Amino acid sequence: SRVRHYKFNVVLRNSTKLCSSKPIVTVNGQFPGPTLYAREDDTVLVKVTNHVKYNVSIHWHGIRQLRTGWADGPAYITQCPIPPGQSYVYNFTITGQRGTLLWHAHILWLRATVHGALIVLPKRGVPYPFPAPHKEVPVVLAEWWKSDTEAVINQALKSGLAPNVSDAHTINGHPGLVPNCSSQGGFTLPVKNGKTYLLRIINAALNEELFFKIAGHNLTIVEVDATYVKPFKTDTIVIAPGQTTNALVTANQNSGKYMVAASPFMDSPIAVDNLTATATLHYTGTLATTPTTLTSAPPQNATQVANSFINSLKALNSKKFPAKVPLKIDHNLLFTVGLGINSCPSCKAANGSRVVASVNNVTFVMPTTALLQAHFFNKSGVFTTDFPGNPPTAFNFSGGLPANASLATTSGTKLYRLAYNSTVQLVLQDTGTIAPENHPVHLHGFNFFSVGRGIGNYNSKTDPKKFNLVDPVERNTANVPTGGWVAIRFIADNPGVWFMHCHLEVHTTWGLKMAFLVDNGKGPNQSLLPPPKDLPKC
Ligand code: C2O
Repeated sequence: SRVRHYKFNVVLRNSTKLCSSKPIVTVNGQFPGPTLYAREDDTVLVKVTNHVKYNVSIHWHGIRQLRTGWADGPAYITQCPIPPGQSYVYNFTITGQRGTLLWHAHILWLRATVHGALIVLPKRGVPYPFPAPHKEVPVVLAEWWKSDTEAVINQALKSGLAPNVSDAHTINGHPGLVPNCSSQGGFTLPVKNGKTYLLRIINAALNEELFFKIAGHNLTIVEVDATYVKPFKTDTIVIAPGQTTNALVTANQNSGKYMVAASPFMDSPIAVDNLTATATLHYTGTLATTPTTLTSAPPQNATQVANSFINSLKALNSKKFPAKVPLKIDHNLLFTVGLGINSCPSCKAANGSRVVASVNNVTFVMPTTALLQAHFFNKSGVFTTDFPGNPPTAFNFSGGLPANASLATTSGTKLYRLAYNSTVQLVLQDTGTIAPENHPVHLHGFNFFSVGRGIGNYNSKTDPKKFNLVDPVERNTANVPTGGWVAIRFIADNPGVWFMHCHLEVHTTWGLKMAFLVDNGKGPNQSLLPPPKDLPKC
């Protein structure tokens, strides 16, 4: 293992897409940002210097940060943000993890343009559990607004209504073929006939789950969220914001150009932009008679396509990579996730109300100082540990609200406390309040096993009998289906404060977030380490 040093300068840069220009916040002037490479067991030091007018913080999404929550990144959860003109060195060791992850800004909506690939290679000399690819290619998917993204969300918060949807999606920074704005080009992946490529696909979009496919080619899925899966073939991938998917593609079509497409998946009546981002797979040295072999993207509401992909994911569960699913459960939790309404006297557009989101009907209130610091230094009055382990009685589930029930949520900075090494089963249940929706729920500090998933209301008597406790997929971002539930299990073996939230940024902003507080253990190396000297102050 070695120590790797990176410099991330957060700077403004002008960018032109969809035939219009705007300044964007970037790392080192790049969109997507630089790819961070490391190997399993390496220590990574990233010096982040803030040269913009916003406060910033960076999250290393999926890195477990064992005992080093200070380097996790979510603003006001594990650190105060880095103010303009200042720096902070994120210092962490990648223990027992390898695969594709992402890094991104974790404050405001800066993630829109401040993100990049985080690639952890196996230890030197350790092979992949699948045939070595000829080449590896990061494929970063994102969303693009013509207007300033901070203005988009601020305007929404003022009105009380939903923010404007994006104007396009991008593949490695390019929308590709865009109607009414030609000659934008797009990302091209050059391939050689007969060779196999490993695509490291990352969904860095703010608010949309995406389908991904390549005309004329099958994809063999070998990894998600930096955990190996039993390989399977598919022609379509579904990937939620915060998720990553490694796919092998063999260039077996001899010659020509093939379209690569990323298009939205949203099986609720809520409007999304339906532009498909495109890129090109090009057999080098061959001419394409027709410009591209077109593939039709699945319709936005292709729930079956999405579910069959998600249900195909199983942990590799080999001798080397066993699935260590917790079998005995200490905390049996049920959290509802969904939308709601609160009053907002100044929100004229929404008649004095505003859309909010909640977990167990609690809309999370962001503190003004970091929770991890408050916890470490025993500062009282910043949070409470009374987050409910179950929804309020007779609460609305996927079927919507009972008549006369209130849409209003409660609010607070509430944490759920876990003893060191306790085991958790958590069922995440979508509610039908306002509208049922999919929620990619991301847990910081842990990987979890996704042991069950279903549509409708979770049944605590019958559903656990159907759980997969042998080879469930292990990941860091769950797929809560529209009007359904997902059950996850993890071991609380990482002391600190760990954020959990919907990775659709609009839902996070609205309050679909909470945090776990994991106590120190009694043994050696079971305590949160002290904070680094340069940790920013609020
Ligand atoms: Cu990728 Cu808390 O986020």
